[in-house]
Amino acid sequence: MLDIALPETARRDAPPLLRAANAETGPAVWSPSSWRSRPVRQMPAYEDAGQLAGVEDRLRGFPPLVFAGEARDLRRQLADVAAGRGFLLQGGDCAESFAEFHPDNIRDTLRVLLQMAVVLNFAAGMPVLKVGRVAGQFAKPRSSDTERVGDVELPSYRGDIVNALDFSPEARRPDPERQIQAYAQAAATLNLLRAFTGGGYAALTRVHDWYLDFIGRSAQGERYRDMADRISEALAFMAACGVSEETAPQIAQTKFYTSHEVLLLGFEEAMTRTDSTSGGSYNTAGHMVWIGDRTRNLDGAHVEYARGIANPLGVKAGPSLPADDLLRLCDVLDPTNEPGRLTVIARMGRDGVGKHLPPLVRAVRREGRQVVWTCDPMHGNTVTSNSGLKTRPFDRIMAEIDGFFAVHRAEGTHPGGLHIEMTGQNVTECTGGTGAVTDAGLSDRYRTHCDPRLNAEQSLEVAFLLAENLKAARRASREVA
Ligand code: PEP
Ligand code: CO
Repeated sequence: MLDIALPETARRDAPPLLRAANAETGPAVWSPSSWRSRPVRQMPAYEDAGQLAGVEDRLRGFPPLVFAGEARDLRRQLADVAAGRGFLLQGGDCAESFAEFHPDNIRDTLRVLLQMAVVLNFAAGMPVLKVGRVAGQFAKPRSSDTERVGDVELPSYRGDIVNALDFSPEARRPDPERQIQAYAQAAATLNLLRAFTGGGYAALTRVHDWYLDFIGRSAQGERYRDMADRISEALAFMAACGVSEETAPQIAQTKFYTSHEVLLLGFEEAMTRTDSTSGGSYNTAGHMVWIGDRTRNLDGAHVEYARGIANPLGVKAGPSLPADDLLRLCDVLDPTNEPGRLTVIARMGRDGVGKHLPPLVRAVRREGRQVVWTCDPMHGNTVTSNSGLKTRPFDRIMAEIDGFFAVHRAEGTHPGGLHIEMTGQNVTECTGGTGAVTDAGLSDRYRTHCDPRLNAEQSLEVAFLLAENLKAARRASREVA
């Protein structure tokens, strides 16, 4: 049988709908639309329900962007991470935008992720699983439904898949047609990513080609070049021993997966298809999806939707998440406790990580839950700069990562990954780093549509610091063993 996901309507013989493991959590029967009977947060108010339904119908007939078999592969590899045998690197834009859609941007973000992965791989000796916040990361939750400028109040910007950033009534009106444009952009983005990662560009032998010009001259660039020289030497040695691109496909190709926040549920429902091989339901708009910190309520629509799809899932865990609620989320989202199914993305902030993360880690360990723990050091460290722009100081980001490692060291658990907002562009959105972006310099190249991202150099710097942490964590776990 073909390992591809087909539209629901194409299969009349799908297995019975999933039953909830926990009766407390609501309707027993899941379907791609069962979320519609739950309280919904963070969704736009569309004016024309008929137009919206028409768009969702068209999406239902569009080809899947990813295949079920790929999502299963990712899940298997995440199971290795859960068991301490790898590291998940997840990164990309806070919000992809129609305006920044350009092949160079896609290539540059990929290059930086490849550079970061190779640093972690080489310096820390860990297999690194690469997952982009890309090819579908369009919808944003907001702290307020409306935004006020002077006397004017308009709907908040909710990502390009919903409305536009300009502050005008026309731009802010939620427009269903944008979902079609987002689908098209995701498809083209993924097509390019597949070509890059499968077609030789991501081959380890090209580790020198992933430089970006502006990084080449920086401190991090020098450091990277030294490491790339050593990798090239090692590859030449291996080739002389008969292990080369021709004999070892791992050298020539890399796996790269996509992910996004599962937020705009009508779109997600339309992209949910029944897999002809397993009979399971898969979100075919991304390999992995995560539930945001603002939509993880147990009785809510987002948890209801996510529990029934078979993709690997993430759930954001902020300071307000009690350990009991996390355990109940595990029950609902991962009733069979299958390693690789659930990734908990902790985003506690520099000042919160030491206090709020340990109770979660302990509760999960006590219950024998097999999750991947990753650190999102971005969302708990957002501040407003003197110039009024949202920013994230680099040293706070690093301090949260250190804190995350310290907690896992103390608890004897595996610090399994990093989740960051970054770009391959030379932007000035987060302050600090060796490139010393200053408060006053933020406005030079501040281009994000939502939250501030690490630029290419800052991302590489994070990777080097992280590699030190990972090396220490590995040493510590060997000593215990
Ligand atoms: C995000 O990842 O862009 C986001 C909104 O994060 P959180 O749900 O953790 O606030
Ligand atoms: Co964000």
